[in-house]
Amino acid sequence: MSTHQIQLTINGRPQHATVEGRLTLSDFLRGDAGCTGVHVGCEHGVCGACTVMVDGNAVRSCLMLAVQADGCTVTTVEGLAAEDGTLHPVQQALRDEHGLQCGFCTPGIVMTLASLTAADNKAAPDKVMNALSGHICRCTGYQGIRRAARKLAGGAA
Ligand code: FES
Ligand code: FES
Repeated sequence: MSTHQIQLTINGRPQHATVEGRLTLSDFLRGDAGCTGVHVGCEHGVCGACTVMVDGNAVRSCLMLAVQADGCTVTTVEGLAAEDGTLHPVQQALRDEHGLQCGFCTPGIVMTLASLTAADNKAAPDKVMNALSGHICRCTGYQGIRRAARKLAGGAA
């Protein structure tokens, strides 16, 4: 079994670790870094639940190895709210529009929308809706999620 030393920043904190070459970033974040807000559903890039930001980009962490994150800045849903508990605008929009039920899909959706709005805070509604198309939610029927996304894109809820 080969192991590797990695060094990365997770939610603003530097972290060093020794990981197996085959360890996925999702398992590393959940098991080693304690970021259990990274949810693992399909484990093959389909459901979107495991989405995190790597250097600002939304990434499916089940499709990335921990060693590939060496030197990167990783943000999980735990790193979004302010220290005083103020929610990130994406979290607040989902809350306001009742865009979650069981919450399993929610961290992934939050991270995709946070990445998109950070890159372009006037993202066109169709671009935001397109970004959501890679996320599976088994509870909500998507309407609350879509309202929240439209609100973030500046459209009418
Ligand atoms: S668990 Fe990664 S996309 Fe489903
Ligand atoms: S809120 Fe349950 S899967 Fe989306």
